[in-house]
Amino acid sequence: MSYLKQLMERASWMPVPTALAKSRKRVGSISEGIARRDLVQFGALLHAQGLVAGTDGNLSVRLDLNRILITPTGRSKSRMASSDMVVVDLSGRKLHGFHNASSEVAMHLAIYHTRPDVRAVVHAHPPTATAFACCGLSLEDPLCAEVVMSLGSIPLAPYAMTGTPELGESLRAHIQHRDAALLANHGAVTCGETLLQAYLRMETVEHFAKIALAARQIGSQQLLDDFQIGKLMEARRKYLQGCENRG
Ligand code: 13P
Repeated sequence: MSYLKQLMERASWMPVPTALAKSRKRVGSISEGIARRDLVQFGALLHAQGLVAGTDGNLSVRLDLNRILITPTGRSKSRMASSDMVVVDLSGRKLHGFHNASSEVAMHLAIYHTRPDVRAVVHAHPPTATAFACCGLSLEDPLCAEVVMSLGSIPLAPYAMTGTPELGESLRAHIQHRDAALLANHGAVTCGETLLQAYLRMETVEHFAKIALAARQIGSQQLLDDFQIGKLMEARRKYLQGCENRG
């Protein structure tokens, strides 16, 4: 196992607020109106940034201990209204909404069950990152200092059929200590304390995938060494606490 992977799997390397939230194992509630507005806004951004096409992708927010607000199935993320969102409970049962919930609701719930600190999940098909996932490649190489500081590393979860509970199961071990993962032959998923944070992490995944691809094409990648990685992981705690995307 690489040094970066070992560090990522140690809870003590988590940013302090995340580790704290995990240890308390509870979440507060957020306004449903704000969550509906955010899902519309960040869904449109996902589409505008080319991270999804057609009716791809889904987003959700944890409203409180028992309820998740999630995007409807089969809708363009560029054309959603706040009234389109669907409220489900933690078993995926629909509580309220005019549409059916995203077909990936089980994957979102698997993340919320695995990570009590997570309040928002974004799933997309960012083209370059998805190409890595389609080639059986993770984005775990320590190439960029910023990515080691912000996401640590981005693992690849094994293939599982889209829209099935198996997809959530394939992801659990990978998302336990990380906030982003690739899904083999499918796409990527990110999570965070806010939808803004989860969305920005998806941007980072695709941006890093483009850099990793260009570095492979140039052909003389210089990976960060264990000493440099250790220093970056120390800086990670401080960096994440000061990040705008936490708000
Ligand atoms: P939904 O439209 O059901 O959310 O599915 C889109 C998708 O990207 C499946 O992976």
